[in-house]
Amino acid sequence: MAGGLQHSAPIPDPGLGAILEAFGIEKSFPGVRVLDGVSLDVRAGEVHVLFGENGAGKSTLVNVILGNYAPEGGTVRFDGKVLPSGSPRAARDAGISVVFQELSLIPTLSACANIFLGREKRRSALLDEGAMSREAAAMFARLGIALDPQAPVAGLSRAEQQMVEIAKALQNDPRLLILDEPTTAFTDVETQRLFSIVAELKRLGVGIIYITHRMAEIQAIGDRISILRDGRRIATKLVSETDEDELIQLMTGRETLNVYPTIAFKPADEAIALDGASAASGRFQNVSISVRAGEIVGIAGLVGCGKSAVGRSLFGEERLAAGQVKLFGKTLRSPSPQSMLEAGVVYLPPDRRRQGLVLNRSVRENATLSCLNLRSFAFGQWLRKKSEDDAVQRVLNRLNLTPPLLDRNVSAYSGGNQQKVVFARAFLRETKVLIVDEPTVGVDVGARLEFYGILKQLCEAGAAILLISSDLPEILHLTHRTYVLAFGRQTAEFQREEISEAAILSSFFAAGPKEGGIKTGAAA
Ligand SMILES: Nc1ncnc2c1ncn2[C@@H]1O[C@H](COP(=O)(O)OP(=O)(O)OP(=O)(O)O)[C@@H](O)[C@H]1O
Ligand SMILES: [Mg+2]
Repeated sequence: MAGGLQHSAPIPDPGLGAILEAFGIEKSFPGVRVLDGVSLDVRAGEVHVLFGENGAGKSTLVNVILGNYAPEGGTVRFDGKVLPSGSPRAARDAGISVVFQELSLIPTLSACANIFLGREKRRSALLDEGAMSREAAAMFARLGIALDPQAPVAGLSRAEQQMVEIAKALQNDPRLLILDEPTTAFTDVETQRLFSIVAELKRLGVGIIYITHRMAEIQAIGDRISILRDGRRIATKLVSETDEDELIQLMTGRETLNVYPTIAFKPADEAIALDGASAASGRFQNVSISVRAGEIVGIAGLVGCGKSAVGRSLFGEERLAAGQVKLFGKTLRSPSPQSMLEAGVVYLPPDRRRQGLVLNRSVRENATLSCLNLRSFAFGQWLRKKSEDDAVQRVLNRLNLTPPLLDRNVSAYSGGNQQKVVFARAFLRETKVLIVDEPTVGVDVGARLEFYGILKQLCEAGAAILLISSDLPEILHLTHRTYVLAFGRQTAEFQREEISEAAILSSFFAAGPKEGGIKTGAAA
């Protein structure tokens, strides 16, 4: 089948029982060729992993399969029939469902209304709200999350929104389900729930395309894996017959990378702290944490545990009902993002689309967003622009922004590359305190390595770093101390030598939900 096609690597056991066959797909955007003759087949009941660096073309291929993009060349067959090119409707009617990398929900509508959008249930002429609500509740139960179907999406945490997206995709009874980095905001527990659903779908003969940058996930649920590099499929392998080293090598063309650096911790004075703090929103109670200069402190916890709210409070973005924020030993009366920035505190939010980036602006503008008032950039227009350009270019080269074009709109960049633009902010100013929330979500191994290298450099130069993360290996390898939150309460603090996966996991459940008093549907 695809064997004779240029650029197509051999497919093990080609096409047997394939429900989806993409063949020789070509897709360009002005000035960039993104897919160069890509072929891929997915069988009923298989999980086919798509793997590749940021910008390799994974999401673009998915959009071609979904009919969102009309390719310049190639065909997509479903059940042996060619799908009309560029027709989202035909793909949907054929039973192709997707969970996108970037959330696509309508924030002002309820979870339930989002799930049934365009497919509303009716009883005679009226909407059957009761039936929709019951079905949504059943779907949430199946996904193992406690969510009120009527909760507006805007008030949900990123992970909860991701669960709503998944519920929406499943509501369709898909025959092919495409999951584009579905677990980015999840910890292991939510991920396991998703995986058991995936296993159930496989038994029903659903084909699954699964995009992830997480190695452990590939081994856990992948049957076959196709590696894309620069818009070409360079290999397809049985997951059982490959390993991490080989995959990284195929993806990057480089030998194995040791991702986690060794960081020399020399903690000095306390830089930033929360003291007996409770959020006005109720998202956490009585939290006391501190980060000293020269150390990386982690906050781990399940979705909804309140860890993101802690990060926002420290930056003055979320109000406290009790307790206080302390910066360099001084209690702050009313911390605001502006005053924090001026004092050298940088905050990188988890949801880059909603909070992190202005999509219709250039990379340059986005990268310098938090630098606008910086004195070092303020000596007149020309100087500002020149020094900014150099600095932005340097940081983004290091993070391997592809393509490295400062004047391009961020919306034209792949998900992982957008995240690199957010990172760049932390490194463009004199950062004394860095608060990062889920920094490496959706970032490929190479860029992750560079990012960790930059964290090391900042920390060893004396910055205080707070790493809020659902990625346990990241917490295990990079932090000097780690706090755990559960249901809005602080349940543990581990010193470096005490940090282990088992210890952290057990403190995820150390407080009961009632005790914590967190309302369902509250953002994390
Ligand atoms: N609308 C667009 N206009 C111009 N270029 C685009 C557009 N969308 C994507 N591209 C380019 O296509 C390339 C592939 O992007 P794609 O989103 O498919 O990557 P990806 O493999 O999904 O990466 P990631 O892991 O970061 O999500 C990138 O170089 C990107 O800049
Ligand atoms: Mg993508």
